[in-house]
Amino acid sequence: MQQNLILEDDIQNDELQPGTSLLHGQYLIEENLVSGGFGITYLALDSLERQVVIKECFPGAVCCRAGGKVQARSADRAGQFSSIKRHFLREARRLAKLNHPNIVGVHQVFEENNSAYMALDYVEGDDLLTVLEDHPERLTPRVIRKLLRTALESVSYLHGLGILHRDISPDNFLLDRQGNLTLIDFGAAREHAGKENRALSALLAVKDGYSPHEFYLADVTQYASSDLYSLGATFYHLVTGDAPPQSQERLAAIAANNPDPYHPLALGDWGYDRGFLEAIDKALAVLQEDRIQSAEAWLEMLDAAPVAAPEPEPELGTDLNRVISRLVQDTNVDLQPGKPTAVETRKRHVPSRQLARSAQEERPSHPVDIFGNPISDVDAWQKEQDRALKAARKAAQAAQAAREKEETEQAAPRSVIAKFMGRFAPRRASAATAH
Ligand SMILES: Nc1ncnc2c1ncn2[C@@H]1O[C@H](COP(=O)(O)OP(=O)(O)OP(=O)(O)O)[C@@H](O)[C@H]1O
Ligand SMILES: [Mg+2]
Repeated sequence: MQQNLILEDDIQNDELQPGTSLLHGQYLIEENLVSGGFGITYLALDSLERQVVIKECFPGAVCCRAGGKVQARSADRAGQFSSIKRHFLREARRLAKLNHPNIVGVHQVFEENNSAYMALDYVEGDDLLTVLEDHPERLTPRVIRKLLRTALESVSYLHGLGILHRDISPDNFLLDRQGNLTLIDFGAAREHAGKENRALSALLAVKDGYSPHEFYLADVTQYASSDLYSLGATFYHLVTGDAPPQSQERLAAIAANNPDPYHPLALGDWGYDRGFLEAIDKALAVLQEDRIQSAEAWLEMLDAAPVAAPEPEPELGTDLNRVISRLVQDTNVDLQPGKPTAVETRKRHVPSRQLARSAQEERPSHPVDIFGNPISDVDAWQKEQDRALKAARKAAQAAQAAREKEETEQAAPRSVIAKFMGRFAPRRASAATAH
Protein backbone atom coordinates (compact mmCIF):
# COMPACT_ATOMS: atom_id res chain seq x y z
CA MET A 1 0.00 0.00 0.00
CA GLN A 2 1.33 3.41 -1.01
CA GLN A 3 0.72 5.19 2.33
CA ASN A 4 2.73 2.54 4.19
CA LEU A 5 5.82 3.17 2.13
CA ILE A 6 8.18 5.10 4.43
CA LEU A 7 11.03 7.00 2.76
CA GLU A 8 14.44 6.73 4.50
CA ASP A 9 14.63 10.57 4.85
CA ASP A 10 11.35 10.63 6.77
CA ILE A 11 12.49 8.26 9.49
CA GLN A 12 13.25 10.17 12.68
CA ASN A 13 14.58 9.37 16.12
CA ASP A 14 12.26 6.98 17.87
CA GLU A 15 11.94 9.29 20.89
CA LEU A 16 9.99 12.54 21.03
CA GLN A 17 12.42 15.42 21.47
CA PRO A 18 12.50 17.64 24.60
CA GLY A 19 10.18 20.61 24.09
CA THR A 20 7.61 18.59 22.13
CA SER A 21 4.11 19.44 23.26
CA LEU A 22 1.25 16.97 23.49
CA LEU A 23 -2.50 17.33 23.84
CA HIS A 24 -2.67 20.95 22.68
CA GLY A 25 0.12 22.08 24.97
CA GLN A 26 -1.17 20.34 28.06
CA TYR A 27 2.05 18.35 28.36
CA LEU A 28 5.60 19.39 27.52
CA ILE A 29 8.19 16.62 27.08
CA GLU A 30 11.31 17.31 29.16
CA GLU A 31 13.39 14.20 28.70
CA ASN A 32 13.30 10.60 27.61
CA LEU A 33 13.63 8.23 30.57
CA VAL A 34 13.78 4.88 28.82
CA SER A 35 12.78 3.13 25.62
CA GLY A 36 11.33 -0.27 26.41
CA GLY A 37 9.86 -3.06 24.34
CA PHE A 38 6.33 -1.72 24.28
CA GLY A 39 6.81 1.96 24.75
CA ILE A 40 8.87 5.03 25.48
CA THR A 41 8.72 6.65 28.92
CA TYR A 42 9.24 10.41 29.23
CA LEU A 43 9.45 12.96 32.01
CA ALA A 44 7.12 15.85 31.24
CA LEU A 45 5.48 18.91 32.76
CA ASP A 46 1.74 19.39 32.75
CA SER A 47 0.03 22.74 32.16
CA LEU A 48 0.28 23.54 35.88
CA GLU A 49 4.03 22.83 35.70
CA ARG A 50 3.71 19.66 37.75
CA GLN A 51 6.07 16.81 36.99
CA VAL A 52 4.37 13.87 35.26
CA VAL A 53 5.47 10.77 33.41
CA ILE A 54 4.17 10.08 29.90
CA LYS A 55 4.16 6.61 28.39
CA GLU A 56 3.92 6.45 24.63
CA CYS A 57 2.76 3.29 22.90
CA PHE A 58 5.80 2.53 20.76
CA PRO A 59 6.49 -1.16 20.13
CA GLY A 60 9.78 -0.53 18.33
CA ALA A 61 9.79 -3.94 16.67
CA VAL A 62 6.72 -3.08 14.61
CA CYS A 63 6.71 0.73 14.34
CA CYS A 64 8.91 3.78 13.75
CA ARG A 65 8.45 7.56 13.72
CA ALA A 66 8.19 9.27 10.34
CA GLY A 67 7.01 12.76 9.50
CA GLY A 68 6.05 13.31 13.14
CA LYS A 69 3.73 10.31 13.12
CA VAL A 70 4.19 6.83 14.49
CA GLN A 71 3.75 4.30 11.70
CA ALA A 72 3.99 0.57 11.19
CA ARG A 73 7.45 -0.39 9.89
CA SER A 74 5.88 -2.15 6.92
CA ALA A 75 2.47 -2.94 5.53
CA ASP A 76 2.45 -6.40 7.06
CA ARG A 77 3.10 -4.91 10.53
CA ALA A 78 0.21 -2.43 10.27
CA GLY A 79 -2.34 -4.84 11.71
CA GLN A 80 -0.10 -5.68 14.65
CA PHE A 81 0.65 -2.05 15.39
CA SER A 82 -2.98 -1.01 15.45
CA SER A 83 -3.88 -4.06 17.53
CA ILE A 84 -1.20 -3.19 20.10
CA LYS A 85 -2.36 0.42 20.14
CA ARG A 86 -5.96 -0.63 20.74
CA HIS A 87 -4.84 -2.92 23.53
CA PHE A 88 -2.65 -0.18 25.07
CA LEU A 89 -5.62 2.22 25.11
CA ARG A 90 -8.00 -0.33 26.56
CA GLU A 91 -5.57 -1.32 29.32
CA ALA A 92 -4.70 2.31 30.05
CA ARG A 93 -8.39 3.14 30.49
CA ARG A 94 -8.83 0.21 32.86
CA LEU A 95 -5.75 1.22 34.83
CA ALA A 96 -7.01 4.79 35.07
CA LYS A 97 -9.85 3.41 37.19
CA LEU A 98 -7.46 1.91 39.76
CA ASN A 99 -7.14 3.72 43.02
CA HIS A 100 -4.54 2.28 45.35
CA PRO A 101 -1.84 4.09 47.36
CA ASN A 102 0.84 1.65 46.14
CA ILE A 103 -0.10 1.55 42.47
CA VAL A 104 0.89 4.40 40.17
CA GLY A 105 -2.04 6.68 39.28
CA VAL A 106 -2.99 7.18 35.63
CA HIS A 107 -4.55 10.58 35.11
CA GLN A 108 -5.03 10.87 31.39
CA VAL A 109 -5.22 8.61 28.36
CA PHE A 110 -5.19 10.09 24.86
CA GLU A 111 -4.34 9.52 21.19
CA GLU A 112 -2.02 11.69 19.17
CA ASN A 113 0.65 11.35 16.44
CA ASN A 114 -1.12 8.18 15.33
CA SER A 115 -0.07 6.66 18.67
CA ALA A 116 -1.52 6.35 22.18
CA TYR A 117 -0.34 7.89 25.46
CA MET A 118 -0.96 7.75 29.17
CA ALA A 119 0.01 10.42 31.67
CA LEU A 120 1.01 9.04 35.06
CA ASP A 121 1.72 10.49 38.48
CA TYR A 122 5.39 11.19 38.86
CA VAL A 123 6.71 9.00 41.71
CA GLU A 124 9.84 10.18 43.51
CA GLY A 125 12.41 7.49 44.23
CA ASP A 126 14.42 4.72 42.67
CA ASP A 127 13.41 1.33 41.43
CA LEU A 128 14.28 -1.62 43.69
CA LEU A 129 17.04 -2.83 41.40
CA THR A 130 18.80 0.53 41.62
CA VAL A 131 18.30 0.67 45.40
CA LEU A 132 19.74 -2.84 45.72
CA GLU A 133 22.76 -1.87 43.64
CA ASP A 134 23.42 1.61 45.05
CA HIS A 135 22.07 1.46 48.62
CA PRO A 136 21.76 -2.16 49.71
CA GLU A 137 21.91 -1.01 53.35
CA ARG A 138 18.38 0.40 52.89
CA LEU A 139 17.01 -3.08 52.20
CA THR A 140 17.27 -4.72 55.62
CA PRO A 141 15.27 -7.93 56.30
CA ARG A 142 12.78 -5.83 58.32
CA VAL A 143 12.27 -3.45 55.38
CA ILE A 144 12.04 -6.31 52.88
CA ARG A 145 9.38 -8.07 54.97
CA LYS A 146 7.35 -4.85 55.06
CA LEU A 147 7.80 -4.31 51.31
CA LEU A 148 6.56 -7.83 50.58
CA ARG A 149 3.36 -7.20 52.54
CA THR A 150 2.76 -3.92 50.71
CA ALA A 151 3.45 -5.55 47.35
CA LEU A 152 1.07 -8.41 48.16
CA GLU A 153 -1.68 -5.98 49.16
CA SER A 154 -1.29 -4.09 45.85
CA VAL A 155 -1.29 -7.32 43.83
CA SER A 156 -4.31 -8.58 45.76
CA TYR A 157 -6.17 -5.37 44.87
CA LEU A 158 -5.21 -5.77 41.21
CA HIS A 159 -6.14 -9.45 41.01
CA GLY A 160 -9.43 -8.69 42.78
CA LEU A 161 -10.31 -6.56 39.74
CA GLY A 162 -9.37 -9.36 37.36
CA ILE A 163 -6.18 -7.65 36.18
CA LEU A 164 -2.81 -9.37 35.91
CA HIS A 165 0.29 -7.17 35.91
CA ARG A 166 2.46 -9.64 33.92
CA ASP A 167 5.68 -7.68 34.37
CA ILE A 168 6.41 -7.76 38.09
CA SER A 169 10.15 -7.39 38.66
CA PRO A 170 12.44 -5.31 40.91
CA ASP A 171 12.71 -2.53 38.30
CA ASN A 172 8.93 -2.10 38.26
CA PHE A 173 8.67 -1.11 41.92
CA LEU A 174 9.69 2.39 42.96
CA LEU A 175 10.81 3.09 46.53
CA ASP A 176 10.77 6.65 47.83
CA ARG A 177 12.87 8.17 50.63
CA GLN A 178 10.11 7.52 53.18
CA GLY A 179 10.08 3.82 52.29
CA ASN A 180 6.80 3.91 50.33
CA LEU A 181 6.54 1.37 47.54
CA THR A 182 4.77 1.99 44.21
CA LEU A 183 4.06 -0.59 41.53
CA ILE A 184 4.55 0.81 38.01
CA ASP A 185 4.83 -0.31 34.39
CA PHE A 186 1.56 -1.79 33.33
CA GLY A 187 2.73 -1.59 29.71
CA ALA A 188 2.38 -5.33 29.37
CA ALA A 189 -0.64 -5.70 31.64
CA ARG A 190 -3.37 -7.82 30.18
CA GLU A 191 -6.71 -9.31 30.98
CA HIS A 192 -7.04 -12.48 32.99
CA ALA A 193 -7.77 -14.55 29.93
CA GLY A 194 -4.82 -13.72 27.68
CA LYS A 195 -6.08 -15.47 24.61
CA GLU A 196 -7.99 -12.89 22.69
CA ASN A 197 -5.34 -11.80 20.25
CA ARG A 198 -2.76 -14.08 18.64
CA ALA A 199 -0.72 -11.28 17.07
CA LEU A 200 -0.50 -9.50 20.38
CA SER A 201 0.40 -12.55 22.38
CA ALA A 202 3.31 -13.04 19.99
CA LEU A 203 4.68 -9.79 21.39
CA LEU A 204 4.77 -11.13 24.91
CA ALA A 205 7.50 -9.49 26.91
CA VAL A 206 9.30 -11.91 29.17
CA LYS A 207 11.98 -11.19 31.71
CA ASP A 208 14.43 -13.97 32.38
CA GLY A 209 14.40 -15.07 35.98
CA TYR A 210 11.13 -13.30 36.77
CA SER A 211 8.70 -14.74 34.21
CA PRO A 212 7.10 -18.13 34.91
CA HIS A 213 7.41 -20.67 32.09
CA GLU A 214 3.82 -20.07 30.91
CA PHE A 215 4.75 -16.47 29.94
CA TYR A 216 7.10 -17.86 27.28
CA LEU A 217 4.27 -19.45 25.32
CA ALA A 218 1.62 -17.50 23.47
CA ASP A 219 -2.00 -18.46 24.06
CA VAL A 220 -1.47 -20.17 27.40
CA THR A 221 -3.77 -19.34 30.27
CA GLN A 222 -2.12 -17.14 32.88
CA TYR A 223 -3.11 -17.12 36.50
CA ALA A 224 -2.82 -15.03 39.62
CA SER A 225 -0.06 -17.49 40.53
CA SER A 226 1.84 -16.41 37.38
CA ASP A 227 2.16 -12.88 38.81
CA LEU A 228 2.99 -14.38 42.20
CA TYR A 229 5.84 -16.35 40.60
CA SER A 230 7.28 -13.01 39.38
CA LEU A 231 6.75 -11.48 42.81
CA GLY A 232 8.52 -14.46 44.39
CA ALA A 233 11.41 -13.96 41.94
CA THR A 234 11.53 -10.25 42.81
CA PHE A 235 11.84 -10.97 46.53
CA TYR A 236 14.26 -13.85 45.90
CA HIS A 237 16.43 -11.23 44.20
CA LEU A 238 16.12 -8.83 47.15
CA VAL A 239 17.06 -11.59 49.60
CA THR A 240 19.94 -13.16 47.66
CA GLY A 241 21.15 -10.30 45.43
CA ASP A 242 20.42 -12.26 42.22
CA ALA A 243 17.43 -13.31 40.16
CA PRO A 244 16.51 -17.00 40.39
CA PRO A 245 17.34 -19.34 37.49
CA GLN A 246 15.22 -18.87 34.36
CA SER A 247 11.94 -20.79 34.56
CA GLN A 248 12.39 -22.40 31.14
CA GLU A 249 15.83 -23.66 32.17
CA ARG A 250 14.26 -25.11 35.29
CA LEU A 251 11.54 -26.83 33.29
CA ALA A 252 14.07 -28.11 30.76
CA ALA A 253 16.38 -29.37 33.52
CA ILE A 254 13.60 -31.39 35.11
CA ALA A 255 12.50 -32.78 31.77
CA ALA A 256 16.11 -33.60 30.81
CA ASN A 257 16.68 -35.70 33.89
CA ASN A 258 18.70 -33.06 35.72
CA PRO A 259 18.02 -31.49 39.11
CA ASP A 260 16.09 -28.22 39.27
CA PRO A 261 18.81 -25.52 39.29
CA TYR A 262 16.73 -23.56 41.82
CA HIS A 263 18.07 -23.84 45.38
CA PRO A 264 15.27 -23.33 47.89
CA LEU A 265 15.81 -20.28 50.07
CA ALA A 266 14.49 -22.15 53.10
CA LEU A 267 17.55 -24.41 52.99
CA GLY A 268 19.97 -21.51 53.41
CA ASP A 269 20.77 -19.12 56.21
CA TRP A 270 19.63 -15.75 54.89
CA GLY A 271 18.70 -14.01 58.12
CA TYR A 272 14.94 -14.50 57.69
CA ASP A 273 12.49 -16.78 59.43
CA ARG A 274 11.80 -20.09 57.70
CA GLY A 275 8.13 -19.33 56.95
CA PHE A 276 9.04 -16.16 55.04
CA LEU A 277 11.56 -18.04 52.88
CA GLU A 278 9.34 -21.09 52.38
CA ALA A 279 6.56 -18.89 51.04
CA ILE A 280 8.91 -17.42 48.42
CA ASP A 281 10.03 -20.95 47.47
CA LYS A 282 6.40 -22.01 47.10
CA ALA A 283 5.53 -18.97 44.96
CA LEU A 284 8.46 -19.97 42.75
CA ALA A 285 7.36 -23.57 42.16
CA VAL A 286 7.84 -24.49 38.49
CA LEU A 287 4.42 -26.10 38.21
CA GLN A 288 1.54 -23.67 38.37
CA GLU A 289 -0.50 -25.96 40.60
CA ASP A 290 2.25 -26.20 43.23
CA ARG A 291 2.50 -22.43 43.67
CA ILE A 292 0.75 -20.11 46.10
CA GLN A 293 -2.57 -19.45 44.39
CA SER A 294 -3.48 -16.00 45.70
CA ALA A 295 -1.90 -12.94 47.28
CA GLU A 296 -4.25 -13.39 50.26
CA ALA A 297 -3.01 -16.96 50.79
CA TRP A 298 0.57 -15.64 50.77
CA LEU A 299 -0.33 -12.97 53.34
CA GLU A 300 -1.88 -15.66 55.53
CA MET A 301 1.32 -17.70 55.28
CA LEU A 302 3.28 -14.67 56.46
CA ASP A 303 0.90 -14.15 59.37
CA ALA A 304 1.29 -17.78 60.40
CA ALA A 305 5.09 -17.77 60.15
CA PRO A 306 7.14 -17.53 63.36
CA VAL A 307 9.33 -14.40 63.46
CA ALA A 308 12.51 -16.02 64.85
CA ALA A 309 14.77 -17.76 62.35
CA PRO A 310 14.93 -21.47 63.20
CA GLU A 311 17.90 -23.69 62.39
CA PRO A 312 18.21 -24.49 58.68
CA GLU A 313 17.56 -28.09 57.75
CA PRO A 314 20.01 -30.15 55.70
CA GLU A 315 19.50 -30.12 51.95
CA LEU A 316 17.36 -32.78 50.29
CA GLY A 317 19.36 -35.89 49.44
CA THR A 318 20.60 -36.05 45.90
CA ASP A 319 18.93 -39.46 45.79
CA LEU A 320 15.52 -37.80 45.69
CA ASN A 321 16.62 -35.64 42.77
CA ARG A 322 17.92 -38.73 41.00
CA VAL A 323 14.65 -40.58 41.47
CA ILE A 324 12.62 -37.57 40.24
CA SER A 325 14.92 -37.24 37.23
CA ARG A 326 14.55 -40.93 36.38
CA LEU A 327 10.77 -40.76 36.59
CA VAL A 328 10.68 -37.57 34.50
CA GLN A 329 12.91 -39.27 31.94
CA ASP A 330 10.52 -42.23 31.79
CA THR A 331 7.61 -39.83 31.23
CA ASN A 332 9.45 -38.12 28.36
CA VAL A 333 10.76 -41.25 26.71
CA ASP A 334 8.99 -40.50 23.40
CA LEU A 335 10.11 -36.89 23.10
CA GLN A 336 12.89 -35.90 20.68
CA PRO A 337 15.26 -32.94 21.17
CA GLY A 338 14.49 -30.00 18.84
CA LYS A 339 14.96 -26.27 18.36
CA PRO A 340 14.02 -23.93 21.19
CA THR A 341 11.83 -20.88 20.48
CA ALA A 342 13.92 -17.98 19.13
CA VAL A 343 13.78 -14.67 20.93
CA GLU A 344 15.51 -11.35 20.48
CA THR A 345 17.35 -9.81 23.41
CA ARG A 346 17.12 -6.01 23.74
CA LYS A 347 19.90 -4.21 25.54
CA ARG A 348 18.64 -2.28 28.55
CA HIS A 349 19.82 -1.03 31.88
CA VAL A 350 17.41 -3.45 33.49
CA PRO A 351 17.91 -7.26 33.66
CA SER A 352 17.94 -9.02 30.34
CA ARG A 353 14.55 -8.69 28.75
CA GLN A 354 13.51 -10.67 25.77
CA LEU A 355 11.02 -9.74 23.15
CA ALA A 356 9.55 -11.92 20.47
CA ARG A 357 9.22 -9.66 17.44
CA SER A 358 6.31 -11.09 15.57
CA ALA A 359 4.36 -14.28 15.14
CA GLN A 360 5.71 -14.74 11.62
CA GLU A 361 9.37 -14.00 12.35
CA GLU A 362 10.26 -15.09 15.81
CA ARG A 363 7.80 -17.63 17.05
CA PRO A 364 6.86 -20.83 15.30
CA SER A 365 3.36 -20.59 13.86
CA HIS A 366 2.40 -23.37 16.30
CA PRO A 367 3.58 -23.53 19.89
CA VAL A 368 6.17 -26.24 20.49
CA ASP A 369 7.27 -28.12 23.56
CA ILE A 370 10.78 -27.62 24.92
CA PHE A 371 12.13 -30.13 22.41
CA GLY A 372 10.54 -28.35 19.46
CA ASN A 373 7.66 -30.77 18.88
CA PRO A 374 4.46 -29.02 17.77
CA ILE A 375 1.66 -28.78 20.35
CA SER A 376 -1.84 -28.72 18.93
CA ASP A 377 -3.73 -28.02 22.17
CA VAL A 378 -1.52 -25.90 24.43
CA ASP A 379 -3.80 -25.91 27.47
CA ALA A 380 -4.22 -29.67 27.38
CA TRP A 381 -0.46 -30.08 26.87
CA GLN A 382 0.34 -27.88 29.84
CA LYS A 383 -2.15 -29.71 32.05
CA GLU A 384 -0.64 -33.03 30.97
CA GLN A 385 2.90 -31.74 31.74
CA ASP A 386 1.81 -30.57 35.18
CA ARG A 387 0.06 -33.84 35.87
CA ALA A 388 2.98 -36.03 34.73
CA LEU A 389 5.57 -34.07 36.69
CA LYS A 390 3.39 -34.04 39.77
CA ALA A 391 2.86 -37.78 39.57
CA ALA A 392 6.61 -38.27 39.11
CA ARG A 393 7.37 -36.13 42.13
CA LYS A 394 4.80 -37.95 44.29
CA ALA A 395 6.15 -41.36 43.29
CA ALA A 396 9.71 -40.20 43.97
CA GLN A 397 8.80 -38.91 47.40
CA ALA A 398 7.05 -42.18 48.23
CA ALA A 399 10.08 -44.16 47.02
CA GLN A 400 12.41 -41.97 49.07
CA ALA A 401 10.24 -42.31 52.19
CA ALA A 402 10.12 -46.11 51.80
CA ARG A 403 13.90 -46.26 51.34
CA GLU A 404 14.52 -44.02 54.36
CA LYS A 405 12.21 -46.18 56.47
CA GLU A 406 14.05 -49.31 55.38
CA GLU A 407 17.45 -47.71 56.08
CA THR A 408 16.37 -46.52 59.53
CA GLU A 409 15.19 -50.00 60.41
CA GLN A 410 18.41 -51.62 59.19
CA ALA A 411 20.80 -48.98 60.56
CA ALA A 412 19.17 -48.45 63.93
CA PRO A 413 22.19 -49.67 65.95
CA ARG A 414 24.52 -47.31 64.05
CA SER A 415 22.40 -44.21 64.61
CA VAL A 416 23.93 -43.47 68.02
CA ILE A 417 27.42 -43.46 66.52
CA ALA A 418 26.20 -41.34 63.60
CA LYS A 419 24.70 -38.83 66.00
CA PHE A 420 27.95 -38.69 67.93
CA MET A 421 30.01 -38.20 64.74
CA GLY A 422 27.57 -35.52 63.61
CA ARG A 423 28.58 -33.33 66.54
CA PHE A 424 32.05 -33.08 65.04
CA ALA A 425 30.99 -32.65 61.44
CA PRO A 426 31.47 -29.09 60.07
CA ARG A 427 28.22 -27.08 59.92
CA ARG A 428 26.98 -26.41 56.43
CA ALA A 429 28.23 -22.99 55.34
CA SER A 430 25.48 -20.46 54.93
CA ALA A 431 24.73 -19.75 51.26
CA ALA A 432 25.43 -16.02 51.65
CA THR A 433 25.98 -13.37 54.25
CA ALA A 434 22.76 -12.32 55.92
CA HIS A 435 21.73 -8.70 55.32
N1 LIG B 1 5.37 7.12 37.35
C1 LIG B 1 6.70 7.20 37.38
N2 LIG B 1 7.34 8.06 38.18
C2 LIG B 1 8.69 8.14 38.19
N3 LIG B 1 9.49 7.42 37.40
C3 LIG B 1 8.91 6.54 36.58
C4 LIG B 1 7.49 6.37 36.51
N4 LIG B 1 7.22 5.44 35.58
C5 LIG B 1 8.40 5.04 35.10
N5 LIG B 1 9.43 5.69 35.69
C6 LIG B 1 10.86 5.52 35.43
O1 LIG B 1 11.05 5.07 34.12
C7 LIG B 1 11.62 3.74 34.11
C8 LIG B 1 10.98 2.92 33.02
O2 LIG B 1 9.57 2.95 33.16
P1 LIG B 1 8.66 1.72 32.89
O3 LIG B 1 9.04 0.62 33.79
O4 LIG B 1 7.26 2.17 32.94
O5 LIG B 1 9.04 1.40 31.38
P2 LIG B 1 9.63 0.13 30.64
O6 LIG B 1 10.18 -0.86 31.59
O7 LIG B 1 10.50 0.61 29.58
O8 LIG B 1 8.26 -0.37 30.07
P3 LIG B 1 7.70 -1.37 29.02
O9 LIG B 1 7.53 -2.65 29.73
O10 LIG B 1 6.39 -0.73 28.71
O11 LIG B 1 8.60 -1.45 27.86
C9 LIG B 1 11.36 3.21 35.50
O12 LIG B 1 12.30 2.24 35.91
C10 LIG B 1 11.44 4.46 36.35
O13 LIG B 1 12.80 4.77 36.60
MG1 LIG C 1 9.71 -1.29 33.58
